[in-house]
Amino acid sequence: MVFMCWLLVSTIVHAEGDANLGQEIFLEDCERCHYNDDFATQDAATTAEQLRALKAGDEDHRPDLAGLSLQEIADLAAFFAGE
Ligand code: HEC
Repeated sequence: MVFMCWLLVSTIVHAEGDANLGQEIFLEDCERCHYNDDFATQDAATTAEQLRALKAGDEDHRPDLAGLSLQEIADLAAFFAGE
């Protein structure tokens, strides 16, 4: 039961985005084209919104970001915002 609660809590916290995981994705998939401070002037919510639009294909972006999960988007947004 204690373990279940821990799982629940960590899932909720995690849903807000983990900047460390975001950095890993950034280094692997984004760094060849973007600087880590490319989106530092905007808050995480704005970056996440842009990424959801890119994922949905509303805006052109190469590479195609359709494969990003919503969790990965939250992680990336937290990373770019320097959280
Ligand atoms: C092959 C090069 C390339 C890669 C790799 C790349 N991008 Fe981009 N990205 C661009 C270009 C070019 C633009 C458009 C110019 C700009 O806004 O800087 C852009 C724009 C964006 C924007 C702004 C969209 C908007 O609404 O203005 C975001 C957010 C973004 N990229 C996130 C990412 C993330 C996250 C990754 C890694 C998962 C990534 N990009 C990987 C080239 C790339």
